[in-house]
Amino acid sequence: MAEESQHVISVVTDDDQYKEKFKKSHHVAFYRRQMHSPNRKHRALLDTMVLTERGARFDLLEPDTQTRLLLLISPCKNDTVRILIDELQPIKARYRVPDVLTDEPQCEQLRVETQTGDAVTLSWSSGCHQVRVRSFPFQLEILCEDDVTLTFNAKEKLWFETLQDRPRSTSHSSETPEEPTASLWKETFRHFEDIKANGPSSIGADFCLHGFSHVYGLPEHADSLQLRDTRDGEPYRLYNLDVFAYELNSRFGLYGSVPLLVAHKLDRTVGIFWLNASETFVNINYSSSEDQEEQTPPAKRRRMRPHTDVHWLSESGVIDCVVLLGPGPQQLFSQYAQLTGHQALPPLFALGYHQCRWNYDSEADVKAVDCGFDLHNIPYDVIWLDIEHTDGKRYFTWDKVHFPNPTGLQRHLERKKRKLVIINDPHIKFDPEWSLFCEARDGGHFVKDREGQLYQGSCWPGKSCYLDFSSAATRAWYSRCFSLEKYKGSTPSLFVWNDMNEPSVFDGPEQTMPKDAVHYGGWEHRELHNLYGFYQHMATVEGLITRSGGSQRPFVLSRSFFAGSQRLGAVWTGDNVANWEYLKISIPMLLSISVTGVVFCGADVGGFVKDPDPELLVRWYQAAALQPFFRGHSANVTKRREPWLFGEEVTAAIRTAIQQRYCLLPYWYTLFHKAHTTGLPPIRPLWVDFSTEQSTFAVDNQYMIGGALLARPVTEPGVQEVTVLLPGCAEIWYNVHSAEAHNGGRTLSLPVTLDTVPVFQRGGSVVCRSTGSGSCTDEMQRLPLSITVALNSQGVAEGELYLDDGHSFSYRDSKAFCLCRFSLMSGRLLCRSASDEGVFDCNTIVSSVTVLGVKSKPSAVTVHASGSKDSSAVFHYTDSCGQLTVSSLNLRVVMDWDIQITD
Ligand code: NOJ
Repeated sequence: MAEESQHVISVVTDDDQYKEKFKKSHHVAFYRRQMHSPNRKHRALLDTMVLTERGARFDLLEPDTQTRLLLLISPCKNDTVRILIDELQPIKARYRVPDVLTDEPQCEQLRVETQTGDAVTLSWSSGCHQVRVRSFPFQLEILCEDDVTLTFNAKEKLWFETLQDRPRSTSHSSETPEEPTASLWKETFRHFEDIKANGPSSIGADFCLHGFSHVYGLPEHADSLQLRDTRDGEPYRLYNLDVFAYELNSRFGLYGSVPLLVAHKLDRTVGIFWLNASETFVNINYSSSEDQEEQTPPAKRRRMRPHTDVHWLSESGVIDCVVLLGPGPQQLFSQYAQLTGHQALPPLFALGYHQCRWNYDSEADVKAVDCGFDLHNIPYDVIWLDIEHTDGKRYFTWDKVHFPNPTGLQRHLERKKRKLVIINDPHIKFDPEWSLFCEARDGGHFVKDREGQLYQGSCWPGKSCYLDFSSAATRAWYSRCFSLEKYKGSTPSLFVWNDMNEPSVFDGPEQTMPKDAVHYGGWEHRELHNLYGFYQHMATVEGLITRSGGSQRPFVLSRSFFAGSQRLGAVWTGDNVANWEYLKISIPMLLSISVTGVVFCGADVGGFVKDPDPELLVRWYQAAALQPFFRGHSANVTKRREPWLFGEEVTAAIRTAIQQRYCLLPYWYTLFHKAHTTGLPPIRPLWVDFSTEQSTFAVDNQYMIGGALLARPVTEPGVQEVTVLLPGCAEIWYNVHSAEAHNGGRTLSLPVTLDTVPVFQRGGSVVCRSTGSGSCTDEMQRLPLSITVALNSQGVAEGELYLDDGHSFSYRDSKAFCLCRFSLMSGRLLCRSASDEGVFDCNTIVSSVTVLGVKSKPSAVTVHASGSKDSSAVFHYTDSCGQLTVSSLNLRVVMDWDIQITD
């Protein structure tokens, strides 16, 4: 333990050293080159246009250098436009990101609308979009309903360093006064040298988003949801790094990267997906209409609109970007999911509560904690083992002293329907005596250094080698390591946590792998750095699926991620700190990750580093119970913090938060099914559901959980009141705890105590809850449901419930699922199947229905269930809040039934 504690302590205490460890943009040569060089004008040679089934291709010429590039514009069926720029005649192939797009998008048939010597306008079958290519200076406009929505290269920042042979002398054509030739082929940061085998190869481009003043996405950063103007500071950096106790309100790169920017205005949502896995920076400049007026001749001012300029710069690869045209947030999420995949449907247990610590020290310790949950009547599903469970940080092994009987431990948990998650990092201890190391080495599964030798870096085990997950053969080999025969001590109830997979290398530059390390196919690490963790995640998921013969859904948590990681499982926000600011920022961080498709995300409850005070711990549990991935975790040097260690008041508050999470799981599971099938994130910013309400655009301390619930976790200490924006003038919002109704279109001041968790149900929605939490999801699944119908101002409401077995792929392979729709109109609540496809025979019953917003006491409530006689139901009406509760029901949720409420 000594070695790793030392690492943690040194980074905490030596703040300056920590700050110096990471680069700022001015340390990065390709960033300086692009930012400090004059723009290079390009000409689109319109007479080279060829329309093919892949799109419209043109030659682009940079007149000064006579460099020729290839431009391919491919509008696709789902209202997306792909723009690809590569070298016309490269001396060798440039890296194109593989394995992220689920399919090559199908291109639409193009036709020429108009053509002059200066521009050509192309359209395709959908009829409402066009692309206009302007010749000089080259610009590409995307028009939606005849309106220019986005201009590519508006600021002429298109930049493409073509590959060259290494020059013999030092003189070099792309040398600039600020950038000596040496840095084109070699770059030094602190004592680290980066030798660039291909020399300068960076690319860049800018986009103008017309009429937009709000942009989001680009995780992972510890910053606000709405991206900031970068003129006054650092650009957003996308470079996966292990940043312990990361700085807040910062645009530095953290563990994961999704190069998707989402822009929203009153009548349109668009996205720019920049498919590049090398180090990337993004600059954002907002311009209001006033800014522009000052520089614009009066005659033109009339047409001025605010706009946002977005400038992307990457170290290598090609320009490959997809513009997603919405028009609304839901279409945008669907377009993005079609491109990079939908969220994997998690096994139900993964949506329960997870208890983790670095470390649970022994089998006895694990059993005692497990028992503690039962003793204190707190539900949970999974207990986690960190690196100390292994034999000397050799993953796939067990510490023989403290974990002598891992199979027995898993069986013990499994009897209570609980699971074990173990950590499995990408570094492999350099140990020629260890068979797994030898197998990986002999099979050629490790990353090489620039000399072609095994790359070695230091991590938890000391000297280590790093698996090359970019190779399909290595992924297949690694997957097989999870088979029950090979992974001794594992059982089907063991699941996996991939950590340190940026990858983290303690003695590497910026604590990661040198960019000149070499992967399968001879590709430098610089090309695919941001994909490394994604690939480990992929291999692990594959391993768990194969282990079950393809029948069971896997659960794998990864710290590092990229676009497409949603297909694989869950992610979390890494090493946060036990203070209020980190609790607060967890909300915008998770919303940013969610809007870029990786919707199964969470933050360490309580804060990983340092010790939370009891109030903070309670507030953190309450907040995280309303976030997708819900795990308590703490560092090795912190005090133990199982929920019952802080006195009965704290235990009770945490118990309530976790129990309420379990009660709401039928709703969460339905939201995950929705994400899995449509791309809609379970938690989302208010502007997604209230896209025409400007007042919601910058809100990031509250959010929607699905379309029905609005959450405003308390993230401030000692407060007696919080304010909540209830959007929508025509909306009614019901406090889920008191049933009190509030009109929307206002900011509410809400008194709070330590027990208050502000959540409101939107009028017009239906939410299904379990009537109890049980001790884990398996038990919860057998409990009856209660349904809350919140009426809107027209007295109607609707909602859905998704059910399946919670763990297998039968929902997909044999359509063993049930999707029910509840709708209430004219006093009649209907439960009907919402899908012809699924058949799921389950006995889950609805035992009560609560209707909120009922104006007066009904005279009768009658139940009609198919196959039985109509019957009167027991009901109770509370006048003060218009709440009608129909109880003692016994209605199977998979059957059709109606409840008639008679005035
Ligand atoms: C870093 C991870 O972020 C943290 O969650 C984990 O506990 C430590 N590594 C030790 O494995």
